[in-house]
Amino acid sequence: MSGTSSFSMKLKVGIVGFGPFAQFLAKTMIKQGHTLTATSRSDHSEICSQLGIKFFKDIVPFLDSNNDVILISTSILSLSQVLSSIPFHVLKKPTLFVDVLSVKEYPRQLLLQVLPEEADLLCTHPMFGPVNGKDGWAGLAFMYERVRIRNEDTCSSFLHIFQNEGCRMVEISCEEHDKQAARSQFLTHTIGRMLSEMDITSTSVNTKGFETLIHLKDDIVKNSFDLYSGLFVHNRFAKQELNNLEIALETIKEKLLDKVTE
Ligand SMILES: NC(=O)c1ccc[n+]([C@@H]2O[C@H](COP(=O)([O-])OP(=O)(O)OC[C@H]3O[C@@H](n4cnc5c(N)ncnc54)[C@H](OP(=O)(O)O)[C@@H]3O)[C@@H](O)[C@H]2O)c1
Repeated sequence: MSGTSSFSMKLKVGIVGFGPFAQFLAKTMIKQGHTLTATSRSDHSEICSQLGIKFFKDIVPFLDSNNDVILISTSILSLSQVLSSIPFHVLKKPTLFVDVLSVKEYPRQLLLQVLPEEADLLCTHPMFGPVNGKDGWAGLAFMYERVRIRNEDTCSSFLHIFQNEGCRMVEISCEEHDKQAARSQFLTHTIGRMLSEMDITSTSVNTKGFETLIHLKDDIVKNSFDLYSGLFVHNRFAKQELNNLEIALETIKEKLLDKVTE
């Protein structure tokens, strides 16, 4: 099967980690007619009841609720702790596990270690969020790797959630994702955070370019610092990109200072 398969059925999706990103995804899944349940460290029962989602405080009844898909949407930094608290043996049937973490080699490796052999695994990264996906997902990239798939119908139906919304489906390995994301997403977040540290604000003489920088800063700081640090700590390619950024700044500084002394 590829991301363009036409098979699609309504799914029972259980979400682990009901933070801002899971809440954002849940709204579209519900709109498409899927049935959702959720569990999380904090009590999200109020927002869940508004959305028509059954919220479980305890993980055992959540696992017992016969989901086709279990979607992992915890912070990158808490993944290991969250996975170690899940009693997988409680699952009643082979289940498709999907993660949406913004780094990919790390959850792939951890999930392969802890999941029961009969569980399928799809590693994904929707390359958008509540800010840039607020007006729809058409044309936005959805990265995935079919790590261990035997139930093609469930996998295809899950991918359809994103295909239906017009996402650009990108099937690449988790390793390739991390390489490319370190040079693109991590760099974008780092520059946004630097601009925030500099406290840039609108001036009376804004250029269009400067307005772009202000928007970038404002959008980036809406993400949690946990998310940003996860992009660095658990992507082995990110450290090199941070070095490249420092080297680039030094090179540009030297070029400028050469002009001063010419
Ligand atoms: N935001 C985006 O645009 C975006 C886009 C693509 C992918 N993602 C990925 O989606 C995931 C969720 O992102 P997010 O934006 O919602 O924010 P986040 O800060 O990365 O993660 C928040 C989630 O992690 C849980 N969490 C944090 N620390 C925990 C701990 N010690 N133990 C148990 N749970 C813990 C929170 O649970 P409680 O709410 O219950 O406290 C919440 O569900 C991340 O892996 C992120 O990389 C995000």
